[in-house]
Formats: sequence, C-alpha cells, structure tokens
Amino acid sequence: MAAAPPRKANPPAASPAAPARHLAGRLSGKVSSVLARASVSVGFDRALAREDIWGSLAHARALLAIGALSGEDFRAIQRGLGEIRAEIGSGAFHWDEALEDVHMNIEKALIAKAGEAGAKLHAGRSRNDQVATDELLFLKKTALRQRGFLLDLREALLARAEEVGEALAPGYTHLQRAQPVLLAHWLLAHQEAFARDADRFLSLEGRLKWLPLGSGALAGTSLPIDPEIAAAALGFASPARNSLDAVSSRDALLEYLAFAAILAVNLSRLAEEMALWSSAEFGFLSFPDSLATTSSMMPQKKNPDGAELLRGKAGRVIGSLVSLLVVVKGLPLSYNRDLQEDKEPFLDAASTLDLSLPLAASLAREATFNLPRLREAASDPFMAATDVAEALVLRGTPFREAHREVGALVAFALERGISLLEVTPEDFLSFCPQGDPALLRRLGPEDLTRARGSTLGGTAPERVRENLARASARALAERERLIAEIRERDLLLQALLETGEGTP
Ligand code: ARG
Repeated sequence: MAAAPPRKANPPAASPAAPARHLAGRLSGKVSSVLARASVSVGFDRALAREDIWGSLAHARALLAIGALSGEDFRAIQRGLGEIRAEIGSGAFHWDEALEDVHMNIEKALIAKAGEAGAKLHAGRSRNDQVATDELLFLKKTALRQRGFLLDLREALLARAEEVGEALAPGYTHLQRAQPVLLAHWLLAHQEAFARDADRFLSLEGRLKWLPLGSGALAGTSLPIDPEIAAAALGFASPARNSLDAVSSRDALLEYLAFAAILAVNLSRLAEEMALWSSAEFGFLSFPDSLATTSSMMPQKKNPDGAELLRGKAGRVIGSLVSLLVVVKGLPLSYNRDLQEDKEPFLDAASTLDLSLPLAASLAREATFNLPRLREAASDPFMAATDVAEALVLRGTPFREAHREVGALVAFALERGISLLEVTPEDFLSFCPQGDPALLRRLGPEDLTRARGSTLGGTAPERVRENLARASARALAERERLIAEIRERDLLLQALLETGEGTP
C-alpha cells in the first residue's frame, strides 16, 4: 500500500498576488489581497449609484460657481454622468470590484468619458461626505416610497372595513374570547398601527434637513465653495452645521431602522393573526390558493406561507437595527471605516420592507372572511359578563361587588352546563339582587357592540363608521400629499441633469 502523501500546511489565507491599488496616495501600488477583499463594497453599495450621481451633479454646480470647473467642464460632467446613469439603468455599466466602491466606479467611468473635467470633480469633497450624502438621499427616497406602500396597505384594510360593514368578530385578550367587536374594528386597529408607522417615516423625512456634502473628509474644505448651492439643488434646508458630525453620524439610518423594525413588528402581528385565523381551529378566514402553498409531502395541506414569511421577515429587520447599533456604538469621531458596514443592514431592511408591505396588502385584500363563523364565535354568551356587571353598576351596585356577583353567576352557569344568558330570573336575582333579569334577553352580540358608543374609539357601529370615515379621509389627504412630494422631488433631481449649464 502506498504511503499517504505528506500533509500540506494550510495555504496562506491571503494569496500573495497583491492587486494594484485604485488609490495609492503615499502608499505603494499594491494592496494585500485580503484587505482588498475586505474593502470591496461595490457589490452592495451600487444600490446608491443614482444618489451618488445626484450628489456629484450638485457638487459640480458648486465647483462651477467658484470657477473650479469651466462651463465646458461642467457640461462634460453633466453629460458623462447622464450617460453613466443610463448605462447603470440599462445594466450596461461595468462594475469593477478592483475599484472598491460605487463612488470610485462612477468617478473612474466619468474620467473615462469626460477626461480632465471628470478628474476635477472630487475637489473639495471626500468619500466621507459623499457616502453620507448618498445615504441620506437614498433614505429620503426609501421613506417616501414606503409611505406609498403603507398607504396601499392601509387603503386595503379600509376597503375591507367598508366591505364587512357591521359584521361581528370575537375580540380577544390573552388569546381568550373577551368581548365581541366589529370585524371592521379589528381591521381598523391594524390600520391605526400602520398610520403611526407612516407618521414616523414622515417625521424622519422632516429631520433629513442637513446636507453632509461640503464637510469634506471631516473638517470642511479650504476651497471657497458655497455649500448652499448643493444643499438647495438636492432639496436640503441647509448644509450640515458640524462637519465632524456630518461625516460620522448614522443617526438617520438608525432612526429609519428603528422605525422599520417597529413597522415590521406591526406587520408580523397582522400576519400572525391572519395565519392563526386561517387554521381549522379558528376557521375565520381563508387565503386564495394563489396566496397559499402546499406541503411537499402532505397533499391535503394548504399553508399560509405568505403570512408566515411576513411574520418571519420582522426578524431580519430587527437584526439590521441591532447590527447597525453595534457597528456605531463606541466609534470615535469622525469617519471610521467601520461605517462601511452600515449599508448591508440598511439596504436589507429597506428591500425587506419593499417586499413585506405589498405582501401584507395582498393578504389583506384577498383573504376571505368566514363571516358566519366569526359571528358564531362572537356570540359566546359569556362575553356578556362585563355588560351584566356594568348594568348592575348603573343600578347602584359598586363595580367590585358587581364583578364578584357576576363572577359567581358565571361559575354557577358553567357548573350547570348552561350559558350565562340561560339562567332563570330567580337564579339571576339570587346572585345579583339589584339586577334586572330581563337584561339577559338584551345581551346578544349586536347589543354588546352597540352599547359601546360612549368610547370614542369603541366598537359601536356608529363609532366604527366615524373612525372609518376619518381614517379614509386622512389616507386620501396623505395620498395627495405624497403624490405632490414625489413630483417635487422628481422635478428637483431632473433639473440637476437637464439645466444649470453655464449657470451657477
Ligand atoms: N465605501 C466607503 C463607505 O461606505 C466610502 C467612504 C470611504 N472613506 C474612506 N475614508 N475610506 O464608508
């Protein structure tokens, strides 16, 4: 038998073939291949390409205004960036990992197209203020789009609330039947949560006011650039007030991730209820086949995978928030390369919500409610117990006493195997001496929901109708506002590509 070949030592982790640097500065032309591999971000930060181009166009305007670019340079840059934008859009652009990130890829391509003019563009700018700018622009765009998705979902819930009218559903606490509610009330409850999510996104957009561009690497630039030019061109209220903060803060991304995590959690709660309600045990709703899957083994299965995936996606959004919090925690000012690790959690959370929100809207739109079954579950007579106690309160019994009396009455009925509303008038009076036994005949589920009119957000049909009208009017106003905001933003950015030739 041949002797075993000698064991090889582990190959060195880094291949000795050191790649050339795209930026050398004072360094030798070669970089360790492990560092090169760790440095590459273009695989994910190319998602910021459009924003990088908008930022460059705005910066070019500021350079033009101080004569650091001639009119001809400016036009060459504008044309070159326009072409690059189109190539990226069509997929024709060649992304080169050796160039590390989206910024260097675009700059290199611009220099190839515009020559010396392209080489002038990075004056007074660093990738530190550049990437922070790209991210804020991307964040604005994302929050705006997702407010639109949130509106789609809210409108779906509102339409279902309208459609189901005064249909009843059991309301739960502790996942035990508690009191009947209108099914519309349940739909509007989820809608409320998503309206708050939309508010949070809107408030976040309101805080994206300070433009990092112009902050340079950390301290600003010695070039006499007017930073207001880029701020106005990109729709920011003002250049950032502190350059150290501007290049190193990731608060806005953290805030987005926190809001995204809350939204994902709200989505997961809707998803959980829908999945639960679709089980045979509940039988309150069913999904169309197009929104269900089967088992690879059990041919009879119809599984609510859409709802489950929606529920599961919340995990990764929460993970993204935690990842970025941990990256930023304890970082000294100002920019540190750790910050490159902000992009994957941010981009992943954004694309997860881009998927989850339309999925939730489809589930909400297309689920079929089993109204008879919901009504039957809402008609559990024991759910009238609180109303019996409250009726006693109106006749002068202190609530704690009423609670005890009705508790004993419930126990008596359960022991007899009869429903709460089937107790004889004599038995009723023996437990609740101040009560009116005729009350028991007026405690069907409709009576119980109708009785809740004094609570502004209660489940009485007229309150639910009012709240539905209010929520619908609000959604409509938000839709109009959103359309106006998107139009305004598109016009602003389009102007960067189309106008400004030879003008500051
Ligand atoms: N790709 C880098 C990032 O995302 C861009 C900034 C690089 N800055 C630097 N000083 N190396 O953070």
